[in-house]
Amino acid sequence: MRPNTSLLSSIGALVGLVASSEQPDSSGLQVPLSSSDEICVHPSYQVQIISSSPLVMYIKDFLTAQECAHLRAISINSFRHSVVADGKRSAQRTSQSTYVESDHVVRCIEERALAFQGHDVQPSQLEPLQLVKYAPGEHYHFHADWFSDPAYKLAVNGGNRVSSFFAYIYVRNDTTGGGTNFPLLSPPVSDRWCDVVDCDEPYNRGLTFRPVEGNAVYWENLHPEDGSGNQKTLHAGLPVTAGEKIGMNIWTRQAPLSDEAVAGLHDYPDL
Ligand SMILES: *[C@@H]1O[C@H](CO)[C@@H](O)[C@H](O)[C@H]1NC(C)=O
Repeated sequence: MRPNTSLLSSIGALVGLVASSEQPDSSGLQVPLSSSDEICVHPSYQVQIISSSPLVMYIKDFLTAQECAHLRAISINSFRHSVVADGKRSAQRTSQSTYVESDHVVRCIEERALAFQGHDVQPSQLEPLQLVKYAPGEHYHFHADWFSDPAYKLAVNGGNRVSSFFAYIYVRNDTTGGGTNFPLLSPPVSDRWCDVVDCDEPYNRGLTFRPVEGNAVYWENLHPEDGSGNQKTLHAGLPVTAGEKIGMNIWTRQAPLSDEAVAGLHDYPDL
């Protein structure tokens, strides 16, 4: 009864019920991903609100160590240099990216991302998951994930991007730099955030999240009142100065994406 299991575990993830009863091991380890029964059990992640306008939330343990390893393994040979909206390589974005083929692990993560966002979001509103790899010197300059060009946000193409998750899939143990910086957001003042926020950054540079494997940042891109893009969601992948970082984008659209729209994304992976 996979649907029931999935539904239960989605709810479980939100209230920490199923996950904790099935996983006495607090490490977050769970059902082996290689099992053929394709069980989807969500980790008991923790959520903190960072900003209410725009809504920005920090999610600890959004992905399990096995999920991170799996995503990395299935994509290892498919990264290519990122392009931006006109399909050209850009000095703005020097990282490499790839879309992830769907399998039961990917669907489990998608289900979690949908459940996180409430009841009204349909699976067809998700763009295919995208991984982005940053090696030393690679970065993504300041940008917002929402589209300003009307051609990219037609309702028939899924409309604009309502929300973004940026999850850290792999952070090599010698990595320095590579934070995710929101220059227009205020960093928290308390020291107790310093495990996830880079407290060494000057206050006037805004909010910088440290890359921590398995954790994710979630934010809403559009003003809820009129659906216009919120400038404060401007952010950048800061240069990795040593090591390697792989992140994952989970983007949710305002409306369902048609197969043609998804195919179009594959042609221009960084739209
Ligand atoms: C980093 O990983 C390498 C290779 O797995 C290991 O040899 C090394 O001890 C690790 N370093 C730290 C600081 O954990």
